[in-house]
Amino acid sequence: MKNQDKIQKLINLRSEAKMGGGQKRMDTQHAKGKMTARERIDMLVDEGSFEEFDMFVTHRCTNLGMDKTKFMGDGVVTGRGTIDGRTIFVFSQDFTVFGGSLSETYALKICKIMDMAMKVGAPVIGINDSGGARIQEGVTSLAGYAEIFQRNIMASGVVPQISAIFGPCAGGAVYSPALTDFIVMSKDTSYMFVTGPKVVKTVTGEEVTDEQLGGAVVHGSKSGVTHMVADSEEEGLMLIRKLLSFLPQNNLEDPPIAFCDDPIDRLDEQLNDIIPENPNKPYDVKDVIHSIVDYNEFMEIHRNYAQNVVVGFARFNGMPVGIVANQPAYLAGVLDINASRKAARFVRFCDAFNVPLVTLEDVPGFLPGTAQEYGGIIIHGAKLLYAYGEATVPKITVILRKAYGGAYCVMSSKHLRGDLNYAWPQAEIAVMGPKGAIEVLYSKEIAKMTDDTVREEFIRKAEDEYKEQFANPYNAARYGYIDDVIEPRNTRFRIIRALQSLATKKDTLPAKKHSNIPL
Ligand code: HXC
Repeated sequence: MKNQDKIQKLINLRSEAKMGGGQKRMDTQHAKGKMTARERIDMLVDEGSFEEFDMFVTHRCTNLGMDKTKFMGDGVVTGRGTIDGRTIFVFSQDFTVFGGSLSETYALKICKIMDMAMKVGAPVIGINDSGGARIQEGVTSLAGYAEIFQRNIMASGVVPQISAIFGPCAGGAVYSPALTDFIVMSKDTSYMFVTGPKVVKTVTGEEVTDEQLGGAVVHGSKSGVTHMVADSEEEGLMLIRKLLSFLPQNNLEDPPIAFCDDPIDRLDEQLNDIIPENPNKPYDVKDVIHSIVDYNEFMEIHRNYAQNVVVGFARFNGMPVGIVANQPAYLAGVLDINASRKAARFVRFCDAFNVPLVTLEDVPGFLPGTAQEYGGIIIHGAKLLYAYGEATVPKITVILRKAYGGAYCVMSSKHLRGDLNYAWPQAEIAVMGPKGAIEVLYSKEIAKMTDDTVREEFIRKAEDEYKEQFANPYNAARYGYIDDVIEPRNTRFRIIRALQSLATKKDTLPAKKHSNIPL
């Protein structure tokens, strides 16, 4: 074969590989409102930056006539590209080849880029769209999944791992995304479940659709499995790009500082009035977040799940931070099982990747009741406590209003190695709210009062006295548990200055194999 023919052969093979399972199947993919595996990568990475590996790989299976059907690339596109000029490794499952199902060689391709990502310290992005284990292969396919799981585990806390779910993701296949740091699902075209509707009907008799069982909306609001829900694949891919802009490449680097010309001393007079005079009235903590961060830009994670706590990324003078804020506008900002789990996982992610934590606190306590106790609020609440206490990144807390009971301790208090703890003048720091406290302290006296007016007058006076003594930040400040009481309008500046002071912070944990967080 002449040189020119050899080169032409390469060009032809490349073109063939890029056709995946063929034009007809690509058309079907488009007809479902989905992009192909390569289109997704092209949209995700910087233009022209993608370099594909293992394009010529084919499967080795001979069962059920498989030796007669081979597609180059074998159902997954893998390689390296850049996002905002920084290296990432990506795999994109190709539904046009055997329904994107995973074979032994397909798994090896994914493992190869995961190993490279670990060696060079770069994020891994997985785009999932697959019928699961390749049925014709049997155990070698299952082994392939397990090899990927093991790498997900090893990479956890070393390089950021992000999963996009843009099609089916069922059975044990769901566990690779579940092991990654963030999941993004596209609305209407993706679903995740351990067992599909047919098995559910056989086993439990329950009739559900794919969407009801494991669609993006369900996982974004009820289970919390997905961190972000995108209206389209394009939006999902843009969310991944944005998310990475807050993150370092690996656990040994600091997050990238962005240019910022939003004044660091920008005052917001409205913050001085944002807390309602009536302490039982809500306000939206997101208004506070938007007001204080650079350019009012906040990337919320888990927006529709456990809305009583708000978590997400923002910047202060260009420095990325993770924000955790109780939300008085939803269930009064109470901490329950889901909110504790959501916030704990976020805190641990930030700590693993050197992202400082800013906590905005307004929490009346943990949610009481049998549903919470039977569900294990003790263990789940402990997760958040543990995550904050374990975190060594800079931790800045601002108590906006209520900091009652155990929740005071949990929300990045001084006692859990909080670095700089501020309070607004409206802060109320106490063992519990006035109503509960008076009931506990004076229940016997109150029970003896037969006259309603006398009883009400007694309770009102006792509550006033309690509020006077405890519903303020100065008791805590007297003990040094609060470093300063600050004017709300100046919060942005105080946080930026705190972050600057803590930029070189070093803190450690005792030597251990690994911690035993209450799971
Ligand atoms: C081999 C598969 C496949 C699979 C789909 N295909 N799933 N081939 N192994 N697991 C092939 C189909 O034969 C078809 O080939 C093509 O992919 C497209 O599939 P369709 O059924 O035509 O597409 P659609 O109607 O969109 O349905 C998609 C689907 C369905 C819902 C994913 O294919 C399906 O239910 N597949 C099986 C899912 C499953 O049970 N997987 C095992 C899960 S358990 P042609 O040649 O016609 O294009 C598991 C264990 C992992 O994954 C364990 C890890 C620990």
